Amino acid sequence: MSQSHPRISKAVIPAAGLGTRFLPATKATPKEMLPVVDKPAIQYVVEEAVAAGLDDVLMVTGRNKRPLEDHFDRNYELESALEKKGDGERLAKVQESSDLATMHYVRQGDPKGLGHAVLCAAPHVGDEPFAVLLGDDLIDPRDPLLQRMIEVQQEHGGSVVALMEVAPEQIHLYGSAAVEATEDADVVRLSGLVEKPSREEAPSHYAIIGRYVLDPAVFDVLSKTEPGRGGEIQLTDALQQLAADATLGGPVHGVIFQGRRYDTGDRGDYLRAIVRLACEREDLGPDFRTWLQRFVTEEMQQR
Ligand code: G1P
Repeated sequence: MSQSHPRISKAVIPAAGLGTRFLPATKATPKEMLPVVDKPAIQYVVEEAVAAGLDDVLMVTGRNKRPLEDHFDRNYELESALEKKGDGERLAKVQESSDLATMHYVRQGDPKGLGHAVLCAAPHVGDEPFAVLLGDDLIDPRDPLLQRMIEVQQEHGGSVVALMEVAPEQIHLYGSAAVEATEDADVVRLSGLVEKPSREEAPSHYAIIGRYVLDPAVFDVLSKTEPGRGGEIQLTDALQQLAADATLGGPVHGVIFQGRRYDTGDRGDYLRAIVRLACEREDLGPDFRTWLQRFVTEEMQQR
């Protein structure tokens, strides 16, 4: 690992979205707080950042996001009630989220897109490389992706995105990248990026999944990036500029991820994520799998 690149310690988590796909559940509750089994989705993401050594977490929030701040703060009333009851196990669960990381919050104000959300992090991040984790993607802790991306950033400098091969009919849901091989089988160099291309326009089958390690030069580029797809300031467009002109703060590399990723972005994927994670849990899994098997068999028989 090269020593010339500064150590990465900050994670930025954009969490200002309205979560309209989950209404009415998200009318008064941020979508990031929806439980995946028994933990809010956002806690998995913060745990992933911490596991990669990033203990300074900035959440970019908006209106109605107070529950996020409360979740990562102490809850003295609940803690003392559990203490009095001698319920150490639940007390530990309550304290886990407030002990995880140093949390910071900034509000996005106008929701002008992911690029704009990242730009809101500039004063906090300063002149250091940093990570961005999107809350809709959960990465299985057994398949450490962010650690590998940080390693690649430390070796090559510039920025690093996470890529995953997807079916051609899925590519329009993601940013996609034109890639060139490097000496490492799981690392590619990006020569072009397009936000949510049609199947025909897509430069490859590689989709950007929601993990980034970014050079701070991205802030300067973002501040000059015009609204793109959907009328929003797109992070993908800023990365395209960094990839096209390495003197701006490039290069841009991609780590090809082949591990387990759970999408909680829409209702179907969210349900699948819960079922998969519940099946794998040591405490709940054995009973739940037995029930699920029986349920599926009965369902099949009825069709
Ligand atoms: C965002 C990015 C997109 C990326 C995706 C990953 O899109 O703009 O490039 O592929 O996250 O989840 P969103 O899903 O927020 O529309």
